[in-house]
Amino acid sequence: MDTDHPLLEVDGVTLRYKTRDHLVTATYRVSFRVFPGDRFVLLGPSGCGKSTLLKAVGGYMAPTEGEIRLKGRPVTQPGPDRMMVFQEFDQLLPWKTVRQNVVFALEASGRLTGKAARERADLYIDKVHLTRFADSYPHTLSGGMKQRVAIARGMAMEPDILLMDEPFAALDALTRRRMQDELLALWEGTRFTVLFVTHSIPEAIKVGARILLLSPHPGEVKAELNSADTPEAALRLESRIQQMLFAEEIPEAAENV
Ligand SMILES: Nc1ncnc2c1ncn2[C@@H]1O[C@H](COP(=O)(O)OP(=O)(O)OP(=O)(O)O)[C@@H](O)[C@H]1O
Ligand SMILES: [Mg+2]
Repeated sequence: MDTDHPLLEVDGVTLRYKTRDHLVTATYRVSFRVFPGDRFVLLGPSGCGKSTLLKAVGGYMAPTEGEIRLKGRPVTQPGPDRMMVFQEFDQLLPWKTVRQNVVFALEASGRLTGKAARERADLYIDKVHLTRFADSYPHTLSGGMKQRVAIARGMAMEPDILLMDEPFAALDALTRRRMQDELLALWEGTRFTVLFVTHSIPEAIKVGARILLLSPHPGEVKAELNSADTPEAALRLESRIQQMLFAEEIPEAAENV
């Protein structure tokens, strides 16, 4: 594994939406680098452009300014080298079983077909502990199980980088924590590269090895931090991040009082 060269480079990226009567700047000159095997988290308040950044890395949206490179090559379109897992439970095809959902993604992208696709699907379905449900349809699964299928589907493509946009945000607190643990266990097994978006500070600290803190709308880089590996360090980091986010909201006059 080449850990000296960045896998993903986001270089001075400004992202704008053009609506009928105005321009919305979602992120402003954001830069960061993700190395192979990183667990890299984008953390910031609602509306700071996290999903927009992920969309741009996915190749669904072009930067107004700056460049995004994967393995040194500019990203210009979506590709199976970047797989996305979303927050919504309805990202699976409802008329296909768990296995068929994973196989379909492999076949549609041309990654694998037939028996090879089924074997690859079963391998990743097993990794997310859903072997017993391989022939079940999505509507018969819980929210957490559906998210595991979406993760298995993304991982089965063996992408260069897995893009996860608040994948656990719609789950109850207990399931969310369990899914965070499971993601870390999966990562321990394969050391894949993940770019994970969240607005939860504890989740960022738990899931991430590196954390990019973004300021409120439009999102600019506020800090890049190493995560914490002990519970005490996690608490300290959590309050430090809170201070950094809170400082943003204090008007200048108030600081002089
Ligand atoms: N399709 C769109 N058209 C116009 N503006 C948009 C569009 N999508 C997002 N925006 C705007 O871009 C900004 C960033 O949105 P984005 O969804 O990336 O934020 P986010 O950090 O993912 O927020 P959240 O935590 O709520 O998911 C917001 O001001 C939003 O209103
Ligand atoms: Mg979002």
